[in-house]
Amino acid sequence: MHIRIPSHRPCLGPAELEAVRQVLESRWLGRGRLTKEFEDRLAAYLGADHVIAVNSGTAALHLALDALELEPNDEVVVPSLTFVSSVQAILAAGGRPVFCEVNPATLNLEPADAAACLSERTRAILTVHYGGRICDMEGLRRLAAVREIHLVEDAAHAFGSGPPGARAGTLGDIGCFSFDPIKNITCGGGGAVATNDAALAERIRARHNVGLETDSWSRLTGERPWFYRVIEPGYRYYMSNLNAAIGLVQLERMEEFRARKRAIVRRYDEAFSAVDGLAVIRHDLEDVFPFNYVVRVLDGRRDALMQHLKERGIGTTIQFIPNHLQPVFAPFSRPLPVTEQLYEEILTLPLYVEMTDADVEEVIGEVKAFLASPVAASRAS
Ligand SMILES: Cc1ncc(COP(=O)(O)O)c(C=O)c1O
Repeated sequence: MHIRIPSHRPCLGPAELEAVRQVLESRWLGRGRLTKEFEDRLAAYLGADHVIAVNSGTAALHLALDALELEPNDEVVVPSLTFVSSVQAILAAGGRPVFCEVNPATLNLEPADAAACLSERTRAILTVHYGGRICDMEGLRRLAAVREIHLVEDAAHAFGSGPPGARAGTLGDIGCFSFDPIKNITCGGGGAVATNDAALAERIRARHNVGLETDSWSRLTGERPWFYRVIEPGYRYYMSNLNAAIGLVQLERMEEFRARKRAIVRRYDEAFSAVDGLAVIRHDLEDVFPFNYVVRVLDGRRDALMQHLKERGIGTTIQFIPNHLQPVFAPFSRPLPVTEQLYEEILTLPLYVEMTDADVEEVIGEVKAFLASPVAASRAS
């Protein structure tokens, strides 16, 4: 069945096309002036001292955790209900993930749940602002301060959430963003690390560019343009001009994107507020730039609803399969009943800027029709 209304879709237009065309014509595709401009614009928007643009959110997470210089068996507390990248980044940085529950009303890590996961070996908490909702950062900061551990934000979903001066991704020691194709803004693929810690920033900056002390741009303007010193272990994680060009245009358009996604969320909330068999995961629209729209489908009917929608050309997805249930993370698994229950119930409905009002009404109508149908009830039994 052709999916007419996908769960996510980037919003791209003539301005992005023109920006890409100009980069191609310039022949400077790699790391360059636009990469730097994107970093500066992000830093200004976030109110962060240091921003390093990278080629994925996964790279941002890896660099952030890598910069903490974990020892073998050092533990990082992380919600199990996150994209696999959060956990892979912990392993890549040499740490051990300690899987934590989330609050079923927000899908976010709570300070009390994080506290229950701490041990002598905990070096950091990696919290995830699920769907763009900001975690209780005051509580998590207090906990991290008392235990003298780092607080890292996976703000992949949360670019644009939070008021000026308190943006998501600037509320812990290091914040990590993703600009992959379905995020609030996209670079095609990309990410960024933000921090106010100069020492961490310096380490991250060197490591994101194969360990080089100075970047390729300043080398070109120096006296000995061919010279470089390798001062850190490093990765090839920098963002290219091509991706930054797309991101710069998307930054200009983000308020338009936010307004449209908010309007859709408001309409969904109103339509689904009193539907039997459904529980909405609410966004506080004052502060949040909503990334996704998740409902909990009760009474074991989630998979059947997903199928019903698919048969009608409506795409949905499940964000996410809990990581403690994945084979590769089996050595770190432990029972997490709240997360396991959520995994049976959560469903991400379509939410993207170019969704028309008619698309939104179609999704609402099909969800309601299915939940009201006796077939659905009998399938559940
Ligand atoms: C919570 C979370 N963290 C990290 C990532 C990784 O970002 P990227 O796809 O840009 O590597 C994602 C993206 O899907 C995500 O949803």
